[in-house]
Amino acid sequence: MKNILVVNYSQTGQLNDILSNIIKPLGHHSIEVVRVTPYKKFPFPWSGKAFFDAMPETVLEKPIELAPITFNRNNYDLIIFGYQPWFLSPSLPATSLLKNEKFLNIIKDTPVITVIGARNMWLNAQESVKSMIHNSGGVLVANIPLIDRNNNLVSALTIMHWMFGGEKTRKWGIFPKPGISEKDINSVDEFGEIINTTLNNNNYNSLQKKILESGRINIKTNILFIEQRAKKLFRIWANLITSKGTTSKKRMFWVGFFKYYLIFALFIISPIVLLIFNILVKPFVMGNLKRKKDYFCSVKLNTNNA
Ligand SMILES: Cc1cc2nc3c(=O)[nH]c(=O)nc-3n(C[C@H](O)[C@H](O)[C@H](O)COP(=O)(O)O)c2cc1C
Repeated sequence: MKNILVVNYSQTGQLNDILSNIIKPLGHHSIEVVRVTPYKKFPFPWSGKAFFDAMPETVLEKPIELAPITFNRNNYDLIIFGYQPWFLSPSLPATSLLKNEKFLNIIKDTPVITVIGARNMWLNAQESVKSMIHNSGGVLVANIPLIDRNNNLVSALTIMHWMFGGEKTRKWGIFPKPGISEKDINSVDEFGEIINTTLNNNNYNSLQKKILESGRINIKTNILFIEQRAKKLFRIWANLITSKGTTSKKRMFWVGFFKYYLIFALFIISPIVLLIFNILVKPFVMGNLKRKKDYFCSVKLNTNNA
């Protein structure tokens, strides 16, 4: 019997459901589930102001205060760390946990599996999480990212409906439901089975390979293309807002500016740039794209690819 720690934050409960289903096949092990919450909760549903105002500190990975956390043990055989990306970075509560002293003591020399509950853009966030786990002495042995499989613009519209309206329902009764599909959430126990076999054999070397063999984790070229450019721009905006936003009035002005930039970039610029890329460039860079996708699907750490 192994000692497993499952630790995460979830605002709507979506990630809690995913993790509860993943650990179903691990029931005969000793499992401790710790849900992290910020000391000062984020609003849900979000106001537009609060949502975009969370961007700078999220992207700059500045930790916030968490409500007190208790772990029953000083060490575990395995840590399953669940998180969600915010603005192409780990969410603020996730970053704060990864920088929390108690958690840093526990993670040292311990195998870690990351489980992501995203809209569809998790590549940059995972690079940050990989580095933080590595720097704290943990060993990333697998990553299980779950996403909304709908078209990027459709999922952006539906998640806004969810985040700003508070209900995981169909926008106008015609769009698909936001977030990760119930089918995907309900069938993640498949990954729990794979983890279980690995735990019994005590060998994590081929765990990620087996997870990928499920065929459920795919990176779309368009998402790779956007992520490789957008994070740099987010960093510029985050630094601009924190340096120029010296009073709350000034900060709100720059946050408002960022909001319109983001909507314009997502719905106007990116479809045009992607169309040009797909027609003129993609056919000539297929090998490079495949290498990048293989890297992001792996648990290797190489900051040059981010
Ligand atoms: C402020 C904010 C920013 C987000 N940014 C991203 C993002 O960059 N990429 C992504 O795939 N999903 C993004 N999402 C969606 C979340 O990753 C997550 O799927 C959703 O919030 C539900 O997670 P929960 O389990 O915490 O409720 C964002 C959500 C919020 C609230």
